[in-house]
Amino acid sequence: MDTAHLIENIRLLKDRHNAIILAHNYQIPEVQDVADVIGDSLDLAQQAAKTNAEYIIFCGVDFMAESAKILNPEKTVIHPSTDAQCPMAAMVDAELLGSLKEEHPQAAVVAYINTTAKVKAIADICCTSSNGAKVVNSLPHKEIIFVPDRNLGRYVERTVTEKTMILWPGICSTHHNITTDDIATLKQQHPGAEVLVHPECTLEVIDCADHAFSTNGMVNHAKTSESKEFIIGTEKDLCYRLKKENPTKEFYPIPRAICPAMKKITLEKVLNSLETLEPRIRLPQDIMKRAVVPLKKMMDVGRGD
Ligand code: 13P
Ligand code: SF4
Repeated sequence: MDTAHLIENIRLLKDRHNAIILAHNYQIPEVQDVADVIGDSLDLAQQAAKTNAEYIIFCGVDFMAESAKILNPEKTVIHPSTDAQCPMAAMVDAELLGSLKEEHPQAAVVAYINTTAKVKAIADICCTSSNGAKVVNSLPHKEIIFVPDRNLGRYVERTVTEKTMILWPGICSTHHNITTDDIATLKQQHPGAEVLVHPECTLEVIDCADHAFSTNGMVNHAKTSESKEFIIGTEKDLCYRLKKENPTKEFYPIPRAICPAMKKITLEKVLNSLETLEPRIRLPQDIMKRAVVPLKKMMDVGRGD
C-alpha cells in the first residue's frame, strides 16, 4: 500500500475506533504527520492522562506507552511495535535498586521516566528531562538515588543545592555518543547558530552548548528565540518537527544521532494496530497501582523548561 493510502486508512480507522495517536518527537516524519499529538515524554504523559479517547495508539518506546497505560488503567493502550524498547530503561534492575535503597534508608529514589514499570513501582517520584532539577528540589530528602541516566543525573546534580546524589551508571548511547567535535564541526559550518542539546548528553557537550533542554523545551525555545539557525544535539528527527513549525528557520542535526528503538514504528505498524487493536500494553495491577504514585507526583511538579 502506498503512503497516501496508508494515511487515509489510518485516519478512517482512528475515527471509527475513537482512537488518539500520540507520537514522540523522535518518531519518523510520516508517523509524526499522522499523530494527533507530538510531544516529549512529559507532554505525552500529560496528554495520556487527560484524553477522552477509548484507544491510545502510542508511537514511542516501551516505557512511554507503559506510562500512558499506568495513567489510564481503564483505557486500551496499543504500542504498534513491541520491540521499540529503550535500552536505557532496561539498565536498572529492580532488585539491585531495592538493595541500594536498603543501604540508604534516608534516600529518596528519583526514577527518570525512562524506566520500567517495576522500577517506577519502587520509586518515590519520577522525573523527565524537562523537570529533573525541579523534582529533586521538591523533595525534603538530602540524599537522592537517581536512576538510570548518569548524564542527566550529573546535570541535575550541578543545579541543585544541598543534595547528595547517588547516580546509577546508565546512559543513552544515542546521546552519550554525541561529542564536542560533532558540535564544533557544525559550529564551524554555521557560526551564527545557537546550540541546543539534550541533558542526556555528557556534561562536556552540555558545557559547549548555549542551552540544555528536553525535546519540547527545544521546540518552545526555537519558536521564541531570535536566532534563525540552530544546531540540535539530540535524536535527528526532532529537526523534522522543528522545521515544520518554524519554516523560516534552519535546524542542523547530528546525522548519526539516531535512536534505533524509536525507528521501529512505521505507518504499516500503526495501521495494523488500528486494524487488530493489538499489541496492547498489559501490566500487573499491583505494579500499576504503585507506579502511578510517583508518576502523578511528578506531574504535580510540572514542567521545568
Ligand atoms: P524527552 O522527554 O526530552 O522527549 O526525552 C525522552 C528521551 O527518551 C530522550 O532520549
Ligand atoms: Fe531511550 Fe536514548 Fe532512544 Fe531516548 S534516545 S528512547 S533514552 S535510547
